Amino acid sequence: MTPMRLAPALLISAAAVLTLGAAPAAPPPTPEQFIAARQAGLDMSVFVTGSLRNAAKAGGDVTKQGYATTVLNRWAHVLPTLFPAGTGEGQTALKTQAKAAVWSDRAGFLAKAANYAAATEKLKALAAAGDTPGFQAQVAEVDKACDACHAIYKEPPPQ
Ligand code: HEC
Repeated sequence: MTPMRLAPALLISAAAVLTLGAAPAAPPPTPEQFIAARQAGLDMSVFVTGSLRNAAKAGGDVTKQGYATTVLNRWAHVLPTLFPAGTGEGQTALKTQAKAAVWSDRAGFLAKAANYAAATEKLKALAAAGDTPGFQAQVAEVDKACDACHAIYKEPPPQ
């Protein structure tokens, strides 16, 4: 092969190596994986809010709640993304307490999620500012944001 004809051949093989060497794109999570991820996160948020409630009861230096309030705020932002279409009751083999309204009244559901995220954002700011009375009052507001969404979009737990 002459050098003139060799160059394009080398380029093509280099491109082939690059393509083969590239990591495959991540597959999207399955509906079952979305349900499992949100339920696990929701269950863990019970412990984070429990620990924040204890801190509120104890009073004192609430700047120590920086980590707990930051992770709860991050979780609050992630939560609504874990309810894509196709993850409702009867749509997979998994049990879910999400009501059909999560999808039929999407705007309402997203508004409740946004209220929750805003409540945790405020809690994080009050903790960072060391505002103990403000923090104590806001912990109760975060609890209300959970309940306000559950009242419309979540089935009660099975007996
Ligand atoms: C924007 C709505 C919304 C907010 C806000 C919300 N939840 Fe939920 N929650 C749901 C829905 C919907 C389900 C049902 C999920 C499922 O079963 O797939 C649920 C389920 C749960 C579950 C049961 C999980 C399981 O294993 O089945 C727990 C525990 C829970 N939430 C706790 C909380 C706590 C604590 C907060 C506040 C700190 C909160 N949730 C805020 C909508 C919300």
